Amino acid sequence: MVKKKACIFISGQGSNLKNLILRSRAENFPIKVSLVISNNTKANGINYARKYKIPYIFINCQLKNYENKILFYLKKYKISFICLAGFMKIISKKIINSFENKIINIHPSLLPKFKGLNTFKRVLKNKERKTGCTVHYVNNKLDDGNIIVKKFFYLSPNDNENILKKKTQQLEYRAYPEAIIKVFRNC
Ligand code: GRF
Repeated sequence: MVKKKACIFISGQGSNLKNLILRSRAENFPIKVSLVISNNTKANGINYARKYKIPYIFINCQLKNYENKILFYLKKYKISFICLAGFMKIISKKIINSFENKIINIHPSLLPKFKGLNTFKRVLKNKERKTGCTVHYVNNKLDDGNIIVKKFFYLSPNDNENILKKKTQQLEYRAYPEAIIKVFRNC
């Protein structure tokens, strides 16, 4: 199997990045994590890139030409697939148009419910019976593209924001690799 070269975009902790790096080591996994892009020089996830010897780039999204810089490196590393994993910046039209249907994201709610930030707080406030995570294609609207995989669990009476985050992330570590396999199943 010829693996697609993928770039993972991060801004913080990077636990999904770590999970994808480890999963992608399997011979039959469709992607190879070939580049990590972070918009945050202090992102912990960079340590995983270092540890597993994956090239990484910092992008300052305040700069005017930052999209060109991203596109330059994506080309340089021959990237054909992008996974957003806790990237706290909206991907611009220019990048979406260059990678049409080749960018996916993981979101910590059952989309289309609770797009945007503070999902766990809103799930609790709304007294939802269940919550979970969604992997979806990225389009020009926030947390909106076609859904690839969704996983859920039922809330327990003692759940708070921290517990919901932990439970959701455990599901994410299964959902993201599953979604990537699904995307490339018929390729
Ligand atoms: C994940 O919960 C993901 O759903 C959201 O950001 C979080 C990133 O976590 N988009 P990590 O950086 O992968 O640990």
